[in-house]
Amino acid sequence: MADFFPWISSFETGIAPVDSQHRRLVGMLNELFDAMNRGEGNAVVGRILDGLVDYTSYHFKTEEELFAKHRYPEAREHIREHAVLRRQVLKLRASLRAGRSVFATQLAELLKEWLRVHILQSDKNFGVYLLSKGIHGNPEA
Ligand SMILES: [Fe+2]
Repeated sequence: MADFFPWISSFETGIAPVDSQHRRLVGMLNELFDAMNRGEGNAVVGRILDGLVDYTSYHFKTEEELFAKHRYPEAREHIREHAVLRRQVLKLRASLRAGRSVFATQLAELLKEWLRVHILQSDKNFGVYLLSKGIHGNPEA
């Protein structure tokens, strides 16, 4: 089945490790939509939330290390956005673990907002900053 959110070039920040991690996030969203389409969305919410908890600590750390290394002037605001996203993911997982229903639609909305607001705006701004510093592709190189 075709992806609901095929990866398109406008998702690219131009920072290789960040883009490859973002592909994983978009993959989770597509996996969730696939399951919802089969009527199994609520059955996969727990597993996807666990994946997101791991993803956020790993991925945000990657970005925040790059902010420090390249003295990104908007780091403080960006890190605050990461903290908000992480709190939202942890809150949903805590609800699920406490036996409350977390619906696939709730998680899908969170992920779509993440893509629309955080990746397409904040992360892309960071990419523009790095490119303006002459850093292309993999900034570890
Ligand atoms: Fe970010």
